[in-house]
Amino acid sequence: MTAARHPARRVRIRSARVADTPALAALRWEFRAALDRASEPRDRFVPRCERWMRERLRRGTGWRCWVAEVGGEVRGMVWLAQIEKLPNPSPSAEPEAHAYVTSLYVRPSERGRGAGSSLLAEALGACAGGRTDAVILWPTPRSRSLYRRHGFAPPDDLLARDATPRRARVF
Ligand SMILES: CC(C)(COP(=O)(O)OP(=O)(O)OC[C@H]1O[C@@H](n2cnc3c(N)ncnc32)[C@H](O)[C@@H]1OP(=O)(O)O)[C@@H](O)C(=O)NCCC(=O)NCCS
Repeated sequence: MTAARHPARRVRIRSARVADTPALAALRWEFRAALDRASEPRDRFVPRCERWMRERLRRGTGWRCWVAEVGGEVRGMVWLAQIEKLPNPSPSAEPEAHAYVTSLYVRPSERGRGAGSSLLAEALGACAGGRTDAVILWPTPRSRSLYRRHGFAPPDDLLARDATPRRARVF
């Protein structure tokens, strides 16, 4: 069977490398410019975003990223940030970090075949092992079902306040 007949087999999930940053910044533009009218031009945004990503992909920054690769090309991504908590005297019962999942994105041509779910599973796998407390994210209305399938639910013990009154925050 050709790869085209079994598209799901073609997708490879791996950790992002610094060399991926041009592709990752281009995906970030594609994602956000499609959601909202961008006020920053693409040729300014992409290099700025690339620099930001290059710095965050170095070891020890608290940020991680995974990509979905098809035929050697980056077609999707997910980012994960560790949010430190203050030390507490019972760290085995209450881990000292939260995690924030953001920028889960798969190019339209690759959607609906499980790549998004595999990226999310990879990021959540990195939160397993007892060192992460809550994993948070801001879904779009359409992506809620995907997150629900991975165990996300609205919390009953969290308060959030929107500090940007101009519009609803997305991510
Ligand atoms: C969300 C997204 C990464 C899923 O990628 P995918 O490879 O299609 O994911 P899967 O095939 O594993 O799962 C399909 C699920 O994705 C979600 N989805 C499908 N189309 C979507 C879209 N246009 N926008 C957001 N989520 C979508 C749905 O939950 C869908 O499940 P369901 O239709 O059975 O309820 C992809 O649709 C995307 O990049 N959307 C635009 C960016 C976005 O909204 N990201 C989420 C930000 S919180």
